[in-house]
Amino acid sequence: MATATNITWHESEVTKAKRREAKGHKSAILWFTGLSGSGKSTISVALETALYTKGIHTYRLDGDNVRFGLNKNLGFSPEDRTENIRRIGEVAKLMVDAGLFTLTAFISPYLEDRAQVRELVEADEFIEIYVKARLETCEQRDPKGLYKKARLGEIKGFTGIDAPYEEPCNPDILIDADVLSIEEAVEVILHYLQAQKYF
Ligand code: ADX
Repeated sequence: MATATNITWHESEVTKAKRREAKGHKSAILWFTGLSGSGKSTISVALETALYTKGIHTYRLDGDNVRFGLNKNLGFSPEDRTENIRRIGEVAKLMVDAGLFTLTAFISPYLEDRAQVRELVEADEFIEIYVKARLETCEQRDPKGLYKKARLGEIKGFTGIDAPYEEPCNPDILIDADVLSIEEAVEVILHYLQAQKYF
């Protein structure tokens, strides 16, 4: 891939700080990670609604949705997953700059890829939320019927079956999805954001 040379960064007059001031709250990436079927997307949707009703500005980036557009040229090889997460990280960074709480719901199975995204932004702008569910739970739910296909060998390299998921060592928020309801998970995250004075 060719890389651009002779390019210069051009500053805006409307800064991140000004955008935050106008909105009346901080901005950050709420990075959901976990197995397919763990509840990342469902919890992020419910959290976004809860934030919206508090007047907090958000945007949500979801694995399947982004793969219909921006990342439609990517598959599920390790390299493509890394590029998937890299692009999402860059987009999420722009959205944080725009003053939004950016909720991302991607399996993001590799520790290194998630660490790279954390590196892109300020320390308090990346909140890793590990939606931890047992593989058996995800497989029982199997909302898209993909685990069944993976077990039958119809899908190769499926996370948790024949592709790895590297658990976060020290997530900012741990959601025990085998135990907590969606509402309880949302409460845990809201409580964290309030305690850390994000709004
Ligand atoms: S990631 O690994 O690159 O972060 P991402 O979150 O974008 O994955 O996409 C995961 C979604 O794609 C799953 O929820 C599932 O619906 C679908 N999918 C299709 N093939 C696979 C696969 N081989 N492994 C995992 N998910 C897959």
